[in-house]
Amino acid sequence: MSVIRFRNTHKAFGHPVLAGVNLDVHPGEMFALFGPSGTGKSVLLKTTIGLVVPDRGDVEVDGQSVYFGGNGALARVRKLVGYVFQNAALFDSMNVYRNVEMGLPPDRLRRMNRAEAARAVWAALELVNLDPGSVLSLLPAELSGGMKKRAGIARAIVGRPSILLWDEPTTGLDPVNTAAVERLITGLSKELQVTSMIVTHDVEGALWMCDRVSMLEGGRIRFCGTPEAFRTDTDPVVRAFVDRAVAEAALDVVEMT
Ligand SMILES: Nc1ncnc2c1ncn2[C@@H]1O[C@H](COP(=O)(O)OP(=O)(O)O)[C@@H](O)[C@H]1O
Ligand SMILES: [Mg+2]
Repeated sequence: MSVIRFRNTHKAFGHPVLAGVNLDVHPGEMFALFGPSGTGKSVLLKTTIGLVVPDRGDVEVDGQSVYFGGNGALARVRKLVGYVFQNAALFDSMNVYRNVEMGLPPDRLRRMNRAEAARAVWAALELVNLDPGSVLSLLPAELSGGMKKRAGIARAIVGRPSILLWDEPTTGLDPVNTAAVERLITGLSKELQVTSMIVTHDVEGALWMCDRVSMLEGGRIRFCGTPEAFRTDTDPVVRAFVDRAVAEAALDVVEMT
């Protein structure tokens, strides 16, 4: 049984981006997707909830076909999935409360009274270690980079999804905030008992956090396996990627000191 299954997923934007992706994410695991910039990692994540519609192939979420599951399939799937967007993607004109509340599925929000919605938002902010009392009425522009990421995560978890998709949750953060957000990801994944799929450039962090990792290259999955197998893989494309990631991590340390 897979929680997310990409089945021969194709997508082109003038040029081919996804050229037949086959990949299975298992229940309860932390799963990472690596790959060079512009290879289609975000596009692949977006196909799980219909933000990008594949040209060919399908995606299955929790055993349900997203694109051949008939009316309502997409809405059912979206309720299962919390999505942490690249760059937090908060609405500039809305305060933190409204931004987080946007993460509640519309039909559930309609059935809730104000106090119930407020309790859900409050609890989500506490789970990401933001003090609800002091941030609820702030606008995104008044938050630090790390706080914005946390608010984006609160929006993704407020509806208590069983699957969390993380698109570069630590990109742009300094090493201290990166470590803090990675601890948050592992902590939340355990506490909420979710399946997590994480797109990240922080290869070292992901190899530490994740049960399995994968690499997208040339529109297809070039590697999928354990962190240990990834580190020691002999495929020259994988090797070049690992070596560059290690070199970049070393550069980060040099910049810090
Ligand atoms: N909505 C879109 N319209 C046109 N091209 C797109 C769109 N979304 C992504 N692309 C293109 O698809 C390719 C993969 O993008 P993306 O998935 O964002 O890469 P990354 O692996 O860095 O996340 C890029 O060439 C990008 O320009
Ligand atoms: Mg991306």
